[in-house]
Amino acid sequence: MEFRQVSNNKDIKITFDFNNVIAENIGEHGIKLNEIKENQELLQKTHSELCAERDDMAWRALPFNQGEVVADINKTAKMINEKFDNFVVFGIGGSALGSRALFTALKSYKYNALSKPLRNGAKFYVEDNVDPDKINALLNVIDVKKTVFNVITKSGNTAETMSQFIIIIGLLIEKLGNDYKDNIILTTSAKSGTLRKIANDNGFKTFEIPEKLGGRFSVLSPVGLLAAAVLNIDISKILAGAGDMDALCSNEKLEDNPAYMYAFTHYMCMKKGVNVTVMLPYTDALLNTAEWYAQLWAESLSKKYDKFGNTVHVGQTPVRALGVTDQHSQLQLYTEGPFDKIITFIKVKNFKTELVIPDVPIKLYDAEYLKGKTLNTLIDLELDSAEYAVCKSGKMNLKIVLDSLNEYSIGALLYFFEMATAAAGKMLNINAFDQPGVEEGKKALYAFLGREGYEEKAKELAGKDKAFNSFIYNL
Ligand code: PA5
Repeated sequence: MEFRQVSNNKDIKITFDFNNVIAENIGEHGIKLNEIKENQELLQKTHSELCAERDDMAWRALPFNQGEVVADINKTAKMINEKFDNFVVFGIGGSALGSRALFTALKSYKYNALSKPLRNGAKFYVEDNVDPDKINALLNVIDVKKTVFNVITKSGNTAETMSQFIIIIGLLIEKLGNDYKDNIILTTSAKSGTLRKIANDNGFKTFEIPEKLGGRFSVLSPVGLLAAAVLNIDISKILAGAGDMDALCSNEKLEDNPAYMYAFTHYMCMKKGVNVTVMLPYTDALLNTAEWYAQLWAESLSKKYDKFGNTVHVGQTPVRALGVTDQHSQLQLYTEGPFDKIITFIKVKNFKTELVIPDVPIKLYDAEYLKGKTLNTLIDLELDSAEYAVCKSGKMNLKIVLDSLNEYSIGALLYFFEMATAAAGKMLNINAFDQPGVEEGKKALYAFLGREGYEEKAKELAGKDKAFNSFIYNL
C-alpha cells in the first residue's frame, strides 16, 4: 500500500507523505498495515458522520458561500487602506490566531517596517492579550485617530476583547469626539452577545460570524479574511484553495483522503499513549500556522467525556517548533526522548528568495564546502537530515510538502487541518466543536470580576479554600 498522497488538482501541489508512520518502515512503534485493515469500520463510520453532519459544520460552507461577504470585505479593506495608517485586530484564541497565521504566511517578515508605497496599505497588528505593557506599547506607536480597530469576538462577551474595545472607545472619543465611528469595525455574531447589542445601538460597521461557526474554525470567515484583505491578500484564492482541499478531504477512502489519514494516524497514536503532536515547519512563515493548529487540535480534541458520557480524558499536547532553529534545541528530545510524539514536518519547496552563500576573499578552512550553496539547499537538507535522524530513532513522523506558500496553498493547508481535526473528533467519539474547559475558565473570570448573573459561581469560588496550604515560599 502506497501512502504518498498527491492531489489530482494540479494547482494544489501539496504532497502528504505518511510513509514514516508505518511500522513496516519505521519499526515497532509505528502503525501496522493490518491496524488500518482492522479499523475499516471506524473509518467508514467517520466518513458517514462527517457527511451526515456537513450542514452543521458552518466552516465547511465558507469556501463556497461568501460571494457577497468577500465583496464587502474587499470594499471595506480598500477604504481602510486609503484612509488609515494602521489596522489593529483585537481578539483572542480563534478570533486572533487565524489572521496572524495568514499575515506571517503571506507577507514580509518586516511588513510594518516597509515604506507605505511598498506595503501599499495600513500597518498591521494583532493584539490578543491584556498585558498592559503590550497594549501601552501599541498605543505608543500608533495614532489612534488614523487607526481602524477590528474588534472580533464570536460570543460578543469575552472579557479580554471587551476590555480592549472599551479602552479604545474611550481613547477615540477623547481624541475625536463623536467622529470616531469609521475607526471601529466589529466582527461578531449576528444575533447574540453584548458586542452585537453595542453595534446595533451605535451603528458601527459590522461583519457577521455565522451562528454555527466555532472560533477556532473561523479563519476563513470575516474573522480572518478582513485582516487578510487589508494586507492586500487575494482572499478569493485562499477560499479557492480551501474549496479544492474540501473536495480532496471529502473522499471516502483513507487511501484518497489525507485528512482521514492524518486523523487516523493521530487517533492511533493517542490509543498507544503517543500524546504529543509536534508541528515542525521549515519556514518562519508557518510558525504562526503551527500556533493556530495548536489551538485547533488542543481545544477540539481534548475532552473529559465522550459523546456517550464515558469519562475518557483524551487529547494530544500540540508543540509548535521551527525548522531549522529547533533542530538545535529540540531534536535531541525528538530522537532519543520517549516514544510519546508524532512529528509533522512541513516543507516549502520554493521560497520567494534564493540566497547564494558567496565566495569571499578570506580562507574558510573547514567551512569551504558551504561556498556556492544556497540557503534554500541548506534548509532543505536540514529537513532531510532531521527526518533521517527521527526515522533512525524509530519515531513516527510525516511530511507535508507545499510547492510554494501562497494564498491558494495556505487556504488549502488550513482547511486540511480543520478536516483532520473534525475527523479525529469522530474517531475519538467526542464533540470536537465545544470547549467546556475554556467556558469554565471564562465563567470563573466573570465571577471574579463581579459580572451580573455569575453570583453563584462567585460563591463557589469564595468557598474554595485549599485543604492544605503550606508549600508557599518567599524570597
Ligand atoms: O475556539 C474557540 O471557541 C475559542 O478559542 C474562542 O475563539 C475564544 O475563546 C474567543 O472567544 P470569542 O470569539 O467568543 O471572544
